Amino acid sequence: MATAQAQAKIAIPNDLEPYWMPFTANRAFKKRPKMIVGAKDMHYISSDGRRLMDGAAGLWCTNAGHNRAPIVEAIQREAATLDYAPAFQFSHPKAFELASRVAALAPADLDHVFFCNSGSEAVDTALKIALAYHNVRGNASRVRLIGRVRGYHGVGFGGIAVGGIVNNRKQFGALFAGVDHLITTYDREKQAFSIGEPEWGAHLADDLDRLVGLHDASTIAAVIVEPVAASTGVLPPPKGYLERLRAICDKHGILLIFDEVITGFGRLGYPFAAERYGVVPDMITFAKGVTSGAVPMGGVIVRKGIYDAFMKGPEHVVELFHGYTYSAHPLACASGLAALDVYREERLFERSRKLEGAWAEAAMRLKGLPNVLDIRTVGLTVGIDLASKPDAVGKRGLEALEAGFFEHDFMFRAVGDTLALSPPLIVSEIQIDEMFDKLARIIKAVA
Ligand SMILES: Cc1ncc(COP(=O)(O)O)c(C=O)c1O
Repeated sequence: MATAQAQAKIAIPNDLEPYWMPFTANRAFKKRPKMIVGAKDMHYISSDGRRLMDGAAGLWCTNAGHNRAPIVEAIQREAATLDYAPAFQFSHPKAFELASRVAALAPADLDHVFFCNSGSEAVDTALKIALAYHNVRGNASRVRLIGRVRGYHGVGFGGIAVGGIVNNRKQFGALFAGVDHLITTYDREKQAFSIGEPEWGAHLADDLDRLVGLHDASTIAAVIVEPVAASTGVLPPPKGYLERLRAICDKHGILLIFDEVITGFGRLGYPFAAERYGVVPDMITFAKGVTSGAVPMGGVIVRKGIYDAFMKGPEHVVELFHGYTYSAHPLACASGLAALDVYREERLFERSRKLEGAWAEAAMRLKGLPNVLDIRTVGLTVGIDLASKPDAVGKRGLEALEAGFFEHDFMFRAVGDTLALSPPLIVSEIQIDEMFDKLARIIKAVA
């Protein structure tokens, strides 16, 4: 019987049913699969052999473009040289080399790097470091974590607790105790169709003072925000907002964490958004672009004072009881080093900065098309809010995604009825025009 079952499985090698897809309408996908079988530079190849323009750098991650030879070859070499080295009490040279390279890209004294395998792990790692930091300094009452409404910090329990997206929270019980949220920085009435950072809204950072008034600073460990809340629809920070948040954190001894899983590695024209905004957080979380998406990797960059606070006591004792089997995996490190080389040699962060104006101008051409309620651009990203269909939130977004894939050879993100673009940083001006022309036709098609 077991053999018959096994044979039956062999006879159906590509049954779509067993794979429970993440953040996907599974039944809709399986009725009409959008299957990708290859990629090169700015394009994906679909299973029916079409070349599709990648408007989203995969999932905001393949910043150097797809299947870049130096990255592919570095991974191949590493796989044949060192498949794995234990992450605890042993290591390998590329882990140290990559930590040095990443730290060198970060501002000020953000100079120590803890590696993990995803953005979600990076966030949970940063939250744990924040709690442990206060603990080792004798401030054990600082246990509260502050996120923000409409924040996305991955899907770990810590990340969904500080996150502010209702669908990601509502099915998962009481979450993590002792968490509160700042109000969102987005107000369509005041900010609609802003290019870059909106003029209105710096004062929204003062909401942290409200939370300090409510909970007392002595109970608050850290605040975590995305410099640009990307996954929730690209919400750039109002001018002056992040500076003000930093000042309030400083006043109260609260750590400030920038979740740069998307904003890192050139998306906003700089290695990190911290540099674009001239604000130095206490920790930066990163993932995605560090390897240009080719091998999973994430991490946390911490300021020297945080690392040093742990380096006390007997030297044979583990300082932080935290880590992953695959922290600084050799393949991820090789991919990361090669990706950083490509970014540097092709000056891709600068390229992203230079293209920002043309990108924003092309995006704003969609203003006035049917159902377009707002367009927000910053760096090489855009969020376009479409009006929802009556009683069917998300349906227009999904229809746009499908029209893009099946009829216009174009892939992008749809979060509910918000369309989001974030192309690989190698995108050309001609391709930018092509993307927004396609998008205009798609928006009209789903009107
Ligand atoms: C800001 C931010 N944090 C965390 C994550 C989670 O990353 P991952 O999906 O690699 O766990 C994401 C993913 O988009 C993100 O945008």
